[in-house]
Amino acid sequence: MTREKLKIGMFGYGCVGQGLHDVLNSSKGFKADIVKICVKDPNKKRRIPMSNFTFDKNDILNDPSINLVVELIDDPVAAFNIVTTAMKKGKNVVTANKVMLAKHFKQLVEMQDKYKVSLLYEASAGASIPIIRNLEEYYDNELLYSLRGILNGTTNYILTLMHNNAIDFNIALEEARAKGFAESDPTLDIEGWDAKYKLCIITGHAYGLFLDPEEVFHYGIKTISKFDIRYAREKGFKIKLVPFVGKTNENTITSFVLPRFISSDKYLYNVDYEYNGVITEAAFADKQFFSGKGAGGHATGSAVLSDISANSYGYRYEYKKYQQGTVSDYTRDYKLEVYLRYSKEKDRDLFKFEEISEFFSSASYKYVIGIINLQTLYALRKKIQGLDVFIVNTGRKGINT
Ligand code: HSE
Repeated sequence: MTREKLKIGMFGYGCVGQGLHDVLNSSKGFKADIVKICVKDPNKKRRIPMSNFTFDKNDILNDPSINLVVELIDDPVAAFNIVTTAMKKGKNVVTANKVMLAKHFKQLVEMQDKYKVSLLYEASAGASIPIIRNLEEYYDNELLYSLRGILNGTTNYILTLMHNNAIDFNIALEEARAKGFAESDPTLDIEGWDAKYKLCIITGHAYGLFLDPEEVFHYGIKTISKFDIRYAREKGFKIKLVPFVGKTNENTITSFVLPRFISSDKYLYNVDYEYNGVITEAAFADKQFFSGKGAGGHATGSAVLSDISANSYGYRYEYKKYQQGTVSDYTRDYKLEVYLRYSKEKDRDLFKFEEISEFFSSASYKYVIGIINLQTLYALRKKIQGLDVFIVNTGRKGINT
């Protein structure tokens, strides 16, 4: 296969942009010509000569010699504008912007056909783990029962420090920020938004459904306390933030993001710090486990490089599961067993427990374990972030959760 000569216009020179630059410089086999890098702040000190930069997006978008736009900025609204303009002008695009992708997924998929361009985004979910390419190529005809994993490096880093070193949440978060793992607004990480956006992108490739992120329940680790860590440790578990998507019947899936207890015999137990891990369960391949660094400039840069290289060979996603159209429905009528730590009885009652298997109450610590319906959690989604509670999926009930 012949390789097209790439002339790249890049947007953003933050953590991922610089990571990509390093990765490109050390890559022996592949040379890409970065014509210009567009950045926002003309006064910021850069580590490469200023002649590499422009502050006008049109210097890239209107340059007919540039055939690939690599979009690595933080702002999803500006990113959407850049990406769609580039596609309309017939340029291929590589992006790592999960918020933008998840919010406009179907439209962006359709634009690729309309403008005969390719949009690649392996770095947007699981950073260095090639999960999207695997779902596209390896699992194209496989009956996939479920996919779950750790898709946010920041929360995994925080949970690892809390569990292993008894470090306070806020100190652990500051460390994750200092290492360049967290989003500029870390609420996206700790409330579970980031993991949800990644899950929605993965769901498009795993099942061919382009879900509106608003439809998917997510919950993060913002309210975790030392009581929850202590409970988990006593039972031999770690708590991890685990997005899940899976089949409930032949043509229906469900999905959600919840903290989950992980016992030491499970693959995800040893996925610590900024590492991510993904487990697929399929009819014939059975269980598979992918793991790798899920955050940080170099890990994300390596996935961007892989997309740039794939682009030079004319690679594009075919959205095979979408073409097959076997999954057509989404449901939240789904029972799961959860641990709920709470302080007020009236908060506990909001969760409408259907069965209770464990219950504890002291002056400082109260919890209940039992079965609830995902529909109830979804109905509470706006209220839940402000409640003095913490919820963990025990993983013991429900189908393949
Ligand atoms: N903030 C993200 C994370 C960066 O912690 O996983 C990688 O997408």
